[in-house]
Formats: sequence, C-alpha cells, structure tokens
Amino acid sequence: MSNRDRFRLRSVFGTATCLAAGWCFSAAAVAAPLDSTTDSQEASQTAQLGTDTSLLSGIPGEGKVSLEEVQQWLADPANHTELTVQLPKGLDAASGNIYIPEDNPLTRAKIELGRQLYFDPRLSSDSTISCASCHDPASGYAAPTQFGVGVGGQEGGRNSPVSYNRIITKEQFWDGRAGSLEDQAVGPIANPIEMGNTHEQCVSDLASNKVYVAEFDKIFPDGLTIDNVGKALAAFERTLVTGPAPYDYQVELDNFKKVFAADLEFLDEDPELKEEFDALQAAAAKHPMSESAKRGMKLFSGKANCTACHAGANFADEQYHNLGVGMDAEEPDLGRYEVTEQEKDKGAFKTPTLRNVALSGPYMHDGSQKTLEEVVEWYDKGGHKNPWLSDKMKPLNLTDQEKADLVAFMKEGLTGSFPKLETGRLPE
Ligand code: HEC
Ligand code: HEC
Repeated sequence: MSNRDRFRLRSVFGTATCLAAGWCFSAAAVAAPLDSTTDSQEASQTAQLGTDTSLLSGIPGEGKVSLEEVQQWLADPANHTELTVQLPKGLDAASGNIYIPEDNPLTRAKIELGRQLYFDPRLSSDSTISCASCHDPASGYAAPTQFGVGVGGQEGGRNSPVSYNRIITKEQFWDGRAGSLEDQAVGPIANPIEMGNTHEQCVSDLASNKVYVAEFDKIFPDGLTIDNVGKALAAFERTLVTGPAPYDYQVELDNFKKVFAADLEFLDEDPELKEEFDALQAAAAKHPMSESAKRGMKLFSGKANCTACHAGANFADEQYHNLGVGMDAEEPDLGRYEVTEQEKDKGAFKTPTLRNVALSGPYMHDGSQKTLEEVVEWYDKGGHKNPWLSDKMKPLNLTDQEKADLVAFMKEGLTGSFPKLETGRLPE
C-alpha cells in the first residue's frame, strides 16, 4: 500500500470514533484536542469540563465566603461571560447531545452559585441535608445507603442515582419525570422526605443571607426566585463530568488496529502513522486494564449483550427498560409507567450510566443489589420473569470466569477521574 493510500485511510479513521461494537459517533465531537492549560482570555470563553480546575474551585480565599469577597468576584466581567464547553476524552463522543437550555447559559458566577447551593444544608427544613448528602463526591456522587436518607432520617423507596454526566441528557430521575435539570433540581427541596422544605421557605431563608442575595441579584435579572435556584443548581450539575477511563484509551488503540490492520507490519515505512500508533499504545499502557478486564470489555459488547442498553459515550441509551428488578414485590414500583401510563412501561426504569459505577453501590433503582457481582448474576439468569420483561433480557450462560471478567471490566475499565472541586467553602 502506498503512503498516499495510507493517508486516505487515516482521514477515514479521523471521521468516526466507535465505542464498543457498532456505536459510532461523528468526528465534530472528537476533533477538539483537550488542553488543560488555557490562558485566562481563552478560559472565559471555552471551558474544558473535567480538566479546567478553576471552574469548581470556589471563590478565591479561605473559610466562609464573605460579602466583600463575593462582591469582588461578582465585579469581574469574566465571571459573567457565557461559556461554551468541551467534554473530556471519552464522554466527548456525546458532545452532540449536550443540552443547555437557551435561557440558562453557563457562566462561572452561576456555576459557583450552584456549587454553593449544592453543598449547603441550609436549603433543607432543619439545615441538616444538602444535595451532597445523597449525591456525595466521596461516594461516587451517590450515597452508600439503599435508599436516599433525608431530613429526620426518613427514607424514600429509590436509590440515589449519580448526579454526574447529566449535561448530555434531558430526562432526569429513574422514571424520567423531570424534563430538565432545572425542573429536577427544585424537586428535592420541597420533597417532604428529602429536604423537607417548601420553596417559599427556602427562598426566604436564602433572602436572609447577604452573600446569596448579592449573587442572585447580579446573576439573574429577576434576582432570587426558586426557578433561579434550580437554574444555578442545574448549571453546576452540568459541569460534573467524568474524565477518561482506561476503556477510552484501549478503545482508541483497538480502533486504530482495526482500521490499519493491513498496515501494522509496515509501520516503519510511515513515520507519522507509527508515531500515532506509538502514542496510542503508550496512552493505553499508562492507563492499564488487566487481561481479565480486557476480556470483559469484549464480553460487554459481545456475548453478554450489555451494549444493547448501556450504549454510547455515557454507557446509557437514555431509554426505559424492565429488567424485573423489584417486580416480585406485592406492589412493585411501576417506574416509567407512572409517567406515561402506557402498559409497556410497567416496571421500566432509565438505563443508568456505567462510568465510575464501581464507586456508587448499592445498585438498581431500589438499591437492592449490593455489588457488581450480584448485578452480573442478575443478568446471567436473564433478569426476573414478569409480563413486561424487556425482550433484550435473556439468560446469558456465562462461565464463572466470564462473570469475573465482566466485573473486572466495570471496575478497572470504566473507572476514570472526576473534576476536582471545592466542597466546604459556603457563604457565611
Ligand atoms: C434524601 C436524598 C436526596 C437528596 C437530599 C437529593 N437527592 Fe437527588 N435523588 C435522590 C434519589 C433517591 C433520586 C432518584 C429519585 C427518582 O428517580 O424518583 C435522585 C435523583 C436525582 C437526579 C437525577 C439523576 C438521573 O440520573 O436521572 C439528580 C440530577 C439529582 N437527584 C440531583 C439532586 C440535587 C441537585 C439535589 C439538591 C437540590 C438533590 N438531588 C437532593 C436522592 C436525593
Ligand atoms: C435491556 C436493557 C439492559 C441490558 C441488556 C443491560 N442493562 Fe444494565 N441496566 C439497565 C437498566 C434499565 C438498569 C436499571 C434497572 C432498574 O433499576 O430497575 C440497569 C442497571 C445496571 C447496573 C446498576 C447501575 C446503578 O447505578 O445502579 C449495572 C452495574 C448494570 N446495569 C450493568 C449491566 C451489565 C454488566 C450488562 C450486561 C451483562 C447490562 N447491564 C445489560 C438496562 C440494561
């Protein structure tokens, strides 16, 4: 093959990234290189989610945020510039799905306000529960309890899902009943068993805090309202994204090998291509997966058929499926059916992301499965039979080794980094 042919092939390679088997995304999303060192001029326009640490590091300073500090911060026009965002490697293949409502553009000031609200227990009726109580960065942005535990130790019937990688989806909650993060965010505040507050009380409590009032007044034309609390929280949540995991490096290397299969033994004749290959190999070696995890990666899209639903850059098809979880209860949670009232949706729940899933057990909408090993057993037996079971659920007949490989893939292959963020610095 001539160099020219190879060059043509290379541009073919450049047009698509294929995740798992058969999931390809267009290049527009993949093209932009990630660079964590942007100068401040640049950073006020484009934010590299997941790598730009200044986005989530809080208002400069120590301890509680004072009025003086916040006024200084709010006076800087750069903190009010609308940001366009780039997703980290891996998740960037879903850049086409980024959803930021037109009436809620991202700015540094708004993201910072949302960060404060997210970690502030003063949003709850007795100042004990914050969003982070159930979506804690230290617990994989979820909670280690079976159900979310709210004010007065009250429990709901559902497990706390992770609150990251929400920027690429519209529908929120296990049953998708909120159409946006803005809608979702104000829900827990008034939920009697979560934060147990009322929207009116929450707004009047915030209104007694000079720091919050200064922020809302500067950031929103209509100042402090419950809708704007939701907007600020949503803006912050959109910046919570997972960084690349070993899978993302391995899949790039595998794709290269596939595309240039016929060329691999002649790489020495094409220094540019060889350089590319060496770089991909080095990156994969730097973020290693065991042989077991690599076998699990093949099973995931092959015999175990997980990509039938856990597909795309976020390992979630954003659809609703009945796996039979909880369907043996006397009065099962009917999930999506409660929203659509369509028979086919009985017992169906939204496919969750599997990025960083090893960190956020227990699992499933009802927190009924404690470990990834248990989850794999559930799929191996084909779920739990019930009239609405997804037709994608079939017994898998996995060997013990294959089950272990799948678990190893989820633990090693899908665990990546989270953005660094300030959790303690709140308004005085
Ligand atoms: C008491 C625990 C608890 C608190 C406090 C709480 N949540 Fe949740 N959160 C949950 C549970 C449980 C669900 C799933 C509920 C459902 O699907 O019906 C959920 C769902 C979500 C989702 C949807 C994720 C998805 O994949 O669809 C987001 C986002 C979220 N919460 C953000 C927040 C924010 C922001 C706050 C603070 C205003 C908050 N939560 C407060 C327990 C909690
Ligand atoms: C038919 C679609 C479908 C298939 C196939 C599927 N999943 Fe799921 N997965 C889901 C849905 C939907 C849920 C949530 C179900 C619930 O809570 O009732 C889920 C939940 C999970 C969870 C729990 C995540 C959490 O945060 O609670 C893990 C882990 C998981 N799946 C892994 C896998 C693996 C591994 C495979 C392949 C063996 C697989 N899934 C195949 C749709 C699917």
